[in-house]
Amino acid sequence: MAKICSVIATSHSPFLFEPLSWWNNTRAGRSYAPGAIVDDDEENARKFDRVQQGMVKLRDVFQEARPDVVLCFGDDQDEQFDLNNHPSFAVYVGPAFEGYKAVRYAEKLGARPFKPKVPEHWAKIDARPELARSLQFALMDAGFDPAFMLDLPDKDIGMGHAFMRPMGPLTDGRFDVPMVPVLVNCLYAPQPTAARCVALAREVRKIVENTWPQDLRVAVVGSGGLWHTPGARESYLDEEFDREILTRLQAGNADAMASYFDAWKPREELKHLKCFDQFSGGTGMSRGVGGGSGETRNWIMAAAVADRPGRVIDYIPVHASPCGVGFAYWEMVG
Ligand SMILES: [Fe+2]
Repeated sequence: MAKICSVIATSHSPFLFEPLSWWNNTRAGRSYAPGAIVDDDEENARKFDRVQQGMVKLRDVFQEARPDVVLCFGDDQDEQFDLNNHPSFAVYVGPAFEGYKAVRYAEKLGARPFKPKVPEHWAKIDARPELARSLQFALMDAGFDPAFMLDLPDKDIGMGHAFMRPMGPLTDGRFDVPMVPVLVNCLYAPQPTAARCVALAREVRKIVENTWPQDLRVAVVGSGGLWHTPGARESYLDEEFDREILTRLQAGNADAMASYFDAWKPREELKHLKCFDQFSGGTGMSRGVGGGSGETRNWIMAAAVADRPGRVIDYIPVHASPCGVGFAYWEMVG
């Protein structure tokens, strides 16, 4: 059987990739809920360092596992799919793909034009279509019906940030580990429940171990989260949500992560905040945790694949975003 050599989960916020000055500038231009915590420049600088250290530790874990291929759970944020057609799950079964290494906007978040597609900003990642297709077939045999993608519909934007961004730090900028992308609708209601995500992730593990080539070393990455409502009005950082998720991660209980996630509701005194408008993703429908925080599904899927207690490298409440930035991994013995 193929070996799952490493399972990791990582935030992929722009705050991981942009300089400290950008943190402070972004902080100044955003809308925060009344009473939201404001870190001063010194605290931002300390947190910036912790973020960088977290990425280095995660890179070490990833590289020590010597993966031949990455299977990444990530979301598409208006990159390849739009609201006319947004699958709950999709497997990219096409050839090598390209995309922005990190933040694609030339200026502040949301501004155009995009950065030029030069090696400083733009990268290519090899795919493993034969593995992706075997995953697609086996998921369908098992009663899951993900959409498939033979290619990227929008090559100008490139593969989504959830898949591109983590690979830079993990490979020291080489982007040289092939990937099987599994796309999960985290942002656009109605999103799949976390319980359904767990069921699919467990099936993915079975398929990888039972049908992929025997000598293959597979790293699984859950990309996104934790709590954030990027750019939304009246944003705040729900540290309680993040810590409840991480406690269950450390206990090795993906089902408990999913049930907490699926049952989560804003506290009475917070539910009027405009940041929750983002939970629908613009569809006018609402179902469970959405916005950037919906990406926590990808962490829960990683936990379901690992199926053992995880280790949290660090959790950094980056109030400048605000975003709960986390780095975690699971030791896969042998
Ligand atoms: Fe994201």
